[in-house]
Amino acid sequence: MRNSPNIIVTGTPGVGKTTHCEALADRTGLRHLSVNQIVKEKGCHEGWDEQFLSWIVDEDKLLDAIEPDALAGGCIIDWHACDLFPESWIDLVVVLRADSATLYDRLAARKYPEEKLQENLDSEIMEVLLQEARDSYDAEMVVELASNSADEMESNVDRIVAWLAQWKKDNAEQEEEAGEGGGSGSGSGSKPADVTEAET
Ligand SMILES: Nc1ncnc2c1ncn2[C@@H]1O[C@H](COP(=O)(O)OP(=O)(O)OP(=O)(O)O)[C@@H](O)[C@H]1O
Ligand SMILES: [Mg+2]
Repeated sequence: MRNSPNIIVTGTPGVGKTTHCEALADRTGLRHLSVNQIVKEKGCHEGWDEQFLSWIVDEDKLLDAIEPDALAGGCIIDWHACDLFPESWIDLVVVLRADSATLYDRLAARKYPEEKLQENLDSEIMEVLLQEARDSYDAEMVVELASNSADEMESNVDRIVAWLAQWKKDNAEQEEEAGEGGGSGSGSGSKPADVTEAET
C-alpha cells in the first residue's frame, strides 16, 4: 500500500501541466515525473517523429522505467496521455483545460508548425484527453480544472494540496483500522477524497 498518492496531471500540450507539476512538487514534496524527460533520458522510444516533432514512445519501456517510482508512491506524472498507466498505480487524474484562444497563443509562442498547432487545438476542443481519462479511470478519480490564468493555476494547486492532505488523513485512518484488526470491507477511507466537489 502506498503511503503517498500518485497523481497524473494531463491535458493537451500547452495547457500548463509542467507549470502545475512544478508548483505542486514545490508545495508538497511529491516527485515530479516529467514523462517527456524520462522518455528522452532513458531511451523509452523508437526514434523521433519528424512530422509531429515528438518521440515515438515505447510504452512498455516507459512503464518499466517509472514502475519503481509509481509503486513507491508520491509521484506527479506529467504527460499528455494517461491511458497507459495501470489504474492500480493512480489515485487522482487531473485534466487541465484551456480556452482555444489562450492555447493558440501559448502554442504560437512556442513557434509550433501550423499543422501541429491545429492538431492540438482540435484535440482540446474535442476534449480528447478528458475523454481518455474518463474512459481509463474511475469517474471519482478524474477532475477537470481550468488553466487559463495564474489565478486559476493557484486555485488548482490549492485544491490538489487540500486533496493530498485529505488522502493522507484517510489513509492513516485506514491503516490504523487495519492495525486494530478492523478487517477489510467498505471502510470510509477507501474512497479518494473528493477534489471534484467544488467543480464549477
Ligand atoms: N494557468 C496558466 N496561467 C498562465 N500561464 C500559463 C498557465 N498554464 C500554463 N501557462 C503558460 O503556458 C505555457 C505552457 O505551459 P506548460 O509548459 O506548463 O504546458 P504543458 O502542458 O506542460 O505543455 P507540454 O505538453 O508541451 O509539455 C508556459 O509558458 C506557461 O507559463
Ligand atoms: Mg510540459
